[in-house]
Amino acid sequence: MKSKLEKIHKEALKALKDAKDSDTLEKLERQFLGRKAELARIAKDIKNIAKEQRPVIGKLINDVKRDISAIIQEKKQGKEFLAKGRPPSGWDYTLPAIAPNVGHLHPITQFLETIEDIFIKMGYEVVEGPELESQKYNFDLLNVPEDHPSRDIQDTFYVDKKDARNNSYVLRTHTSPVQIRAMKTRKPPVRLIAPGRVYRNERTDAGHETNFYQCEGLVIDRNIRITDLIGTLELFIKRLYGDNVNIRVRPHFYPFTEPSIDIDMSCLLCAGEGCPFCKRSGWIETLGAGMVHPNVLKNMKVDPKEYSGFAFGLGIDRFMMLYYQVNDIRLSYSGDLRFIEQF
Ligand code: PHE
Repeated sequence: MKSKLEKIHKEALKALKDAKDSDTLEKLERQFLGRKAELARIAKDIKNIAKEQRPVIGKLINDVKRDISAIIQEKKQGKEFLAKGRPPSGWDYTLPAIAPNVGHLHPITQFLETIEDIFIKMGYEVVEGPELESQKYNFDLLNVPEDHPSRDIQDTFYVDKKDARNNSYVLRTHTSPVQIRAMKTRKPPVRLIAPGRVYRNERTDAGHETNFYQCEGLVIDRNIRITDLIGTLELFIKRLYGDNVNIRVRPHFYPFTEPSIDIDMSCLLCAGEGCPFCKRSGWIETLGAGMVHPNVLKNMKVDPKEYSGFAFGLGIDRFMMLYYQVNDIRLSYSGDLRFIEQF
């Protein structure tokens, strides 16, 4: 039995040595390792051998099989087949590699960079602040009174972490606290924007999410007037969307600005006709703004008699959606590649 196996082994090695193409290799593979091969038959007959012999012969059969199989695999990947038209395993090793999937910046980030470019060209610097914020910065120093509805738990996410005065931290509800933080290390004149993520306890729909992006703006200098504010924002919107966009200015109230305004722009998704995105009004609320309240200037250690300033908060998601014609804010945060890969 042993010599029979050795004979098969030798035969196989010789035949394989001469095999020069994949067809021959496949034939030899069938001949030596296939179901009807002699090796297979011997393996089947092992039960007829003396019991003590079985492990020895069994091992020998396996060794022979393994050796033949290894040589065949090696040959299949061998250089001699590369030169030939048809590679043995159906794989052409000379083909260029498959390019790996490379990611890219999220559309919101791409869009933020577009906005930053516009403001940087107008002389603004870009600053950032924390997303987990103390009530002091998110509300108090911004002149938001204790009983203001924006402090309500229905509107705001509070977390367990507490500050020194035992007040819960909040997931910042706007980027306005960055105004105060930035002024800790700056003196007027300042021109800055502060982009970032903010959180609100919203009921979600096509136009609302529980987290979204804002971009704060702050300008403080001598003789800054509300016309500077409106002019700046109109220029910004036109640089972004072109000269055909209409804006409309509405009076509003914010505790940290006085006077305060909201600026709407014509809905680019429906060209002012009315659609779900603009709640059928033809206008989109895009930003809140106003002249920095004297109390807030004082909290920034800036003298309101000497300086004035304006501040604004852009709703980045809505701007982005208009820019790229996206009709549902929730897509941005869905993580769905069918959406992300379009940008
Ligand atoms: N913080 C305001 C908001 O989130 C927007 C705003 C910023 C308004 C700056 C006035 C000045 O709605």
